[in-house]
Amino acid sequence: MSTDKTETPTQGPRHVAVIMDGNGRWAQSRGQPRLFGHHAGVKRVKEIVRACPDYGVKYMTVFAFSTENWRRTQAEVSGLMKLFRRYIQSEARDLLAERVRVRFIGDRVKLDPKLCRVMDEIELLTSRNDRVHLTVALNYGGRDEVARATKRLAKEVAAGRLDPETVDETTLARFLDTCFLPDPDLVIRTSGEARISNFLLWQSAYAEYDFVDTLWPDFTVAEFAKVLGAFSARDRRFGAVPA
Ligand code: FPP
Repeated sequence: MSTDKTETPTQGPRHVAVIMDGNGRWAQSRGQPRLFGHHAGVKRVKEIVRACPDYGVKYMTVFAFSTENWRRTQAEVSGLMKLFRRYIQSEARDLLAERVRVRFIGDRVKLDPKLCRVMDEIELLTSRNDRVHLTVALNYGGRDEVARATKRLAKEVAAGRLDPETVDETTLARFLDTCFLPDPDLVIRTSGEARISNFLLWQSAYAEYDFVDTLWPDFTVAEFAKVLGAFSARDRRFGAVPA
């Protein structure tokens, strides 16, 4: 699904995507191991997701683990994988009660089958929810996603089910991991870095960006509200000239 680029901008963003950066630095500045920061980061995810309906945010997409994050130490990678599994299992009941629909994007091939099982379970368990749509990007990379989508599309062409002459932007979008999501209106990155790090490359073509200095474990709902307020003041023209 793609948002209609001509529709009148709403007050606030409907879909917010977040690059939750700064967990490691936050922990290290406290003399703690990096995983301590990731645990603190999970708390912020919970708070922000819970606050979404208050601010009209229907879709929240968070970058939990990138295709490049495998380059971290084995201890950090396995600690993060354990954290994801624990978060999914321990939060299942609350997410269901709060009517949050959880889905994952990214390539599951490299993920532990036990983790994949709990991911499938929570997707199924929450599949009827629609108060907030939480999408977790796990082993996700924008270029990797486009490459995988292209491969699937090419297979359809090779099988004679898709006429290459009909392929346009919307066709490719249907093959992306995010085919069930509207494009993000706002992408937030915490921790003072001004990069997009391979996150939602295709989908963010018209997104507004906000880079904030706060480290993710310090990113409160109040600060989230401030960023949403700043978004509402922006003039989104999607390439058009104001009437
Ligand atoms: C980036 O900070 C953060 C990550 C790579 C992990 C983010 C994951 C979470 C907050 C857990 C969320 C879990 C779920 C299931 C939603 P960094 O480690 O790169 O920080 P640094 O730049 O200070 O080193």
